[in-house]
Amino acid sequence: MRNVLVTGGAGFIGSNFVRYLLKAEPDARVFNLDALTYAGSLENLKDLPDASRHTFIQGDICDAGLIGKLFQEHQIDSVVHFAAESHVDRSILGPAPFIQTNIVGTFTLLEAARQAWGADGSTRGMRFHHVSTDEVFGSLDASDSAFTESTPYEPRSPYSASKASSDHLVRAYFHTYGLPVTITNCSNNYGPYQYPEKLIPLMILNALRGKPLPVYGDGKQIRDWLFVEDHCEAIYLVLKNGRLGETYNIGGGNQPYNIDLVNETCSILDELKPSTTSYSELIAHVTDRPGHDRRYAMDITKIRNELGWTPRHDIESGLRATVQWYLAHMDWVEVIMKQEGFSDWLDKNYARRGT
Ligand code: NAD
Ligand code: DAU
Repeated sequence: MRNVLVTGGAGFIGSNFVRYLLKAEPDARVFNLDALTYAGSLENLKDLPDASRHTFIQGDICDAGLIGKLFQEHQIDSVVHFAAESHVDRSILGPAPFIQTNIVGTFTLLEAARQAWGADGSTRGMRFHHVSTDEVFGSLDASDSAFTESTPYEPRSPYSASKASSDHLVRAYFHTYGLPVTITNCSNNYGPYQYPEKLIPLMILNALRGKPLPVYGDGKQIRDWLFVEDHCEAIYLVLKNGRLGETYNIGGGNQPYNIDLVNETCSILDELKPSTTSYSELIAHVTDRPGHDRRYAMDITKIRNELGWTPRHDIESGLRATVQWYLAHMDWVEVIMKQEGFSDWLDKNYARRGT
């Protein structure tokens, strides 16, 4: 792992991973390709450890010419592919960019890797790691067992269908061309640098601004929450030691109802940044997300047994650390909230829900 192409490294998980990798691999050079959509920001890449080994390239993963050039010029031997349109609600209101980036973009990267590495990439130590989601497996009922790597795909939103599609392409390139791939499917991440369209940062920032906390439907949906650094560690282990052609499920084992998670976030804020009344009084149940998946849960037996990975953070410590991070980084918050598209998105997604 000498010349690593990270796609989407100016986004939430990608920027955390770039930090992680620069520390974990002191000899690696990191080429970070990101289109800087509304979700990506150079603010996420300030104060990198050993920044001289990091090169940022603004560009689109659908640009075959650019990607081909990057592989050649920098002798890329490893790819960690994060770049995606990632927000389910946006995929419902406008699916086209999800099809373009998540499917066509992944295809473009796979083709570039195939051209650059030829048929013997695996014996020369090349690796293409694709970062995917638990949402490809669909929705669980309360009594269903957690998703395993062999659970059939049943995506239910344009976002999850586009990610499922990209996973199939990655596997097809392994079987057909012998491209040295690995895939991880992970549950909901939270932590530093998460764009405030997602549940936890949205709740923190709305609460601090005295705005309603919009909980979709009855708030009894369940997600399997994982602190972002734990996700980075799992990806790194798969990249180093995962078996080629294999998929690994990653999850946090923390499965509160959304409404309980929002209440817990409010309690932490009540303690760290007291207001005249509890922030929980701002909670407002609003119109549900169409096709809203009820429950996700990940069975992590495979990655634990094969690679020795388990999450280091539970939801109590991770959520507290996250609230503390946002409170300590209000300068970051200010810049991100002023960026083009943020307040438009709040109007577009929430006004019609009654908040
Ligand atoms: P994010 O939306 O915060 O970041 C996505 C990044 O990709 C942004 O920096 C954006 O500018 C970039 N990007 C988008 N389109 C691009 C294009 N065409 N070319 C180049 N760059 C482009 O997303 P995230 O939450 O950090 O998720 C990263 C990856 O992890 C995604 O593939 C997502 O499906 C997956 N994932 C996310 C979660 C989660 O909870 N956030 C969980 C499991 C898997
Ligand atoms: O499960 C992994 C996925 O987690 C990733 O693949 C996606 O990229 C990531 O965005 C996330 O998807 P979710 O839809 O689960 O995350 P989100 O933060 O948007 O919503 C979490 C839950 O909270 C979900 O049940 C919807 C609910 N919600 C969300 C928002 C934004 C609300 O109740 N109110 C809100 O305003």
